[in-house]
Amino acid sequence: MSTNQPLLQVNQLGVQFKTNDGLVYAVNGLNFELGRGETLGIVGESGSGKSQTVLAMMGLLAKNGTATGEVLYKGQNLLNMSTHEINKIRGDRVSMIFQDPMTSLNPYLTVERQMTEVLELHKNMTRKAAKMRAIELLEAVKIPEAARRISMYPHEFSGGMRQRVMIAMALLCEPEVLVADEPTTALDVTVQAQILALLRDLQRDFGTAIIMITHDLGVVAGICDKVMVMYGGRMMEYAKSDDLFYRPTHPYTIGLLGALPRLDSDAAELVSIPGNPPNMNNLPKGCPFSERCTHVMPHCASDLPPLVEIPGGEGRWRACHKAIADIQVNVAGEVQHA
Ligand SMILES: Nc1ncnc2c1ncn2[C@@H]1O[C@H](COP(=O)(O)OP(=O)(O)O)[C@@H](O)[C@H]1O
Ligand SMILES: [Mg+2]
Repeated sequence: MSTNQPLLQVNQLGVQFKTNDGLVYAVNGLNFELGRGETLGIVGESGSGKSQTVLAMMGLLAKNGTATGEVLYKGQNLLNMSTHEINKIRGDRVSMIFQDPMTSLNPYLTVERQMTEVLELHKNMTRKAAKMRAIELLEAVKIPEAARRISMYPHEFSGGMRQRVMIAMALLCEPEVLVADEPTTALDVTVQAQILALLRDLQRDFGTAIIMITHDLGVVAGICDKVMVMYGGRMMEYAKSDDLFYRPTHPYTIGLLGALPRLDSDAAELVSIPGNPPNMNNLPKGCPFSERCTHVMPHCASDLPPLVEIPGGEGRWRACHKAIADIQVNVAGEVQHA
């Protein structure tokens, strides 16, 4: 294997759901890569297809869902693997944390038992060695008095502490990829900042690659190398974080940036993008954002804009019919705060 090969390479990933109203195309034509130790953000409003993208990658779609395309992990397609093969990778090489820690914690077992069980199973450790390792990880995620608290049940921890326990669980097998689906959404702003700082430290110390899903562009600012902006199941824009923040080129990205709280004004000025995310059962044939876009042109609703690499943009991609220059002239004043 060449060392230049990305850890994950996603080609034309799609997700379709069978429903009583026909097929729902929840995710369409995604292409992206994740290198070792890199952090990719996936942002977009609720219903954009963020969760289904990563659930498809991990073979965790609901029964009525099908994934198409390729998800290459070190060159092997995860989408073709047997349950047995994917189970070996999931939870070991690639692990996931969720918005609600109770999705992955068992309420009836102590944290100690849950953690040692994983290490005994995946790493053949003795119970005693496993407990020591588990305590180390609880300390790494900054749980005070970890040696004592390890014998507690999940409900005995506060929300923020439970989130840390889940992160420690996810790191038990030193995964190469950590997928975090809105891990801080349910937490207050201070705890949210602490958890994000923690993920950044863990990434530095363990070299874990992270996929961070959030509906909040502010969350990705400090932590992500690259960002994929999704809407209506499609990639709208894909760029290095800094480029996306300082030089957004898609009207949807600009709308999301406009919804960030401005430091230089009071919260009353907080705006969100007018209108609602699209009905996935009834998407326009063209650009899914066309109904809400302030730059919409007559053909946008009928012609799907292809995802095109921006010339000279160093790996920047966007799907929009409008010329970049026309949009940037328009937003130059509006995005200064980003
Ligand atoms: N089991 C399902 N059956 C049918 N449609 C589904 C199912 N799960 C998700 N969807 C569709 O996929 C869309 C995207 O969902 P999701 O990826 O969870 O959005 P988010 O960006 O908020 O994480 C939803 O709006 C819904 O239309
Ligand atoms: Mg989601």
